[in-house]
Amino acid sequence: MKELKILLVIVVIVLIGYWGIEPLAHSIMHKEIEEAIEKYHLPDFKFSDLPNPSVTSGDPAKGKEATKMFCTSCHGIKAEGIKAPMDAKAAAASFGVVPPDLSNMGALIDKKFLINFLMNPQKATENPKFAMPALGLNEQQAADITAYLQSIAKKDLTPKEKTVEACARCHSIKYQKIYAETPAENLKKYLGKVPPDLSIIYKAKGEEYLNAFINRPSVILHGTSMPRLGLNKESQEEIVAYLEEIADPHKEQRKKVGIIVLLYMLVMVGLTYAWKKKIWKNVH
Ligand code: HEC
Ligand code: HEC
Repeated sequence: MKELKILLVIVVIVLIGYWGIEPLAHSIMHKEIEEAIEKYHLPDFKFSDLPNPSVTSGDPAKGKEATKMFCTSCHGIKAEGIKAPMDAKAAAASFGVVPPDLSNMGALIDKKFLINFLMNPQKATENPKFAMPALGLNEQQAADITAYLQSIAKKDLTPKEKTVEACARCHSIKYQKIYAETPAENLKKYLGKVPPDLSIIYKAKGEEYLNAFINRPSVILHGTSMPRLGLNKESQEEIVAYLEEIADPHKEQRKKVGIIVLLYMLVMVGLTYAWKKKIWKNVH
């Protein structure tokens, strides 16, 4: 029976190593982050720090007019056949970053956040240098535009499409052949650094960190120039799941192989034990 006990100890140590150590080390090394996550209840998809708009329902038809008036001097809206007024190079030179196409922003961004964002981009994004100026919209206009953007947005975007629309004006994901829309030199000037490639960021940072950071960058990484984007719960979860999948495409496979190896070890130990017993029986 000694061998079985030894095997059991090995299995327990392996399991602790696999599931126990990593979270433990994580919580010790990132105490400040854990504290921020707790303090601000991250991810906070209610955006509790922002005021609830008094107007909540908007008129998409009025929103369409307002969008044409206030937004299309900088943004394209492909879904409506409106081309970006500048090519990527010229836009990046003017703003530091290429303004995103607005076709699907209504599907990505939380409604409350978007209304707040349209009235005061710097406050909502918690980024005083955010390149889109406040346009002097009142709450009703912001709610109308939000209703319009929600009405034109595609409902069936894939996680990859969502990631590209939300992140790729700044980030590359080179292993997926996705390249930042804005040239690196413009980003560096605007944001102080070139945003990191996201190909394997999930492995480096882990799910809990990503969910908190993307939801509220400024309280996780003080002084960061990444704006809060206001992604709704569904979109953020899909984007994080996509980042996980591309960072470790063989994870499921590896887990299965691990179980098979453990079973194999168990069978071998059983056989060895039986064999040993047989030999010793003859010796005695
Ligand atoms: C003067 C140019 C300009 C105008 C006018 C403008 N924007 Fe922007 N907008 C930008 C830029 C530049 C960015 C990207 C900034 C960044 O990512 O740092 C942006 C970003 C956005 C985003 C992305 C926010 C996020 O959370 O990712 C949305 C949505 C948006 N604008 C909507 C609008 C709407 C709606 C209007 C009209 C009411 C408008 N913008 C008018 C320049 C402009
Ligand atoms: C307006 C540009 C911009 C957009 C859009 C943007 N990011 Fe970032 N991101 C940055 C910058 C700049 C940094 C570097 C921040 C720093 O080091 O302070 C960064 C850093 C990060 C990091 C690393 C954080 C760390 O701890 O080092 C992650 C993860 C990240 N971004 C994810 C995303 C995801 C996911 C999206 C889309 C949902 C996104 N970003 C959209 C500019 C952007």
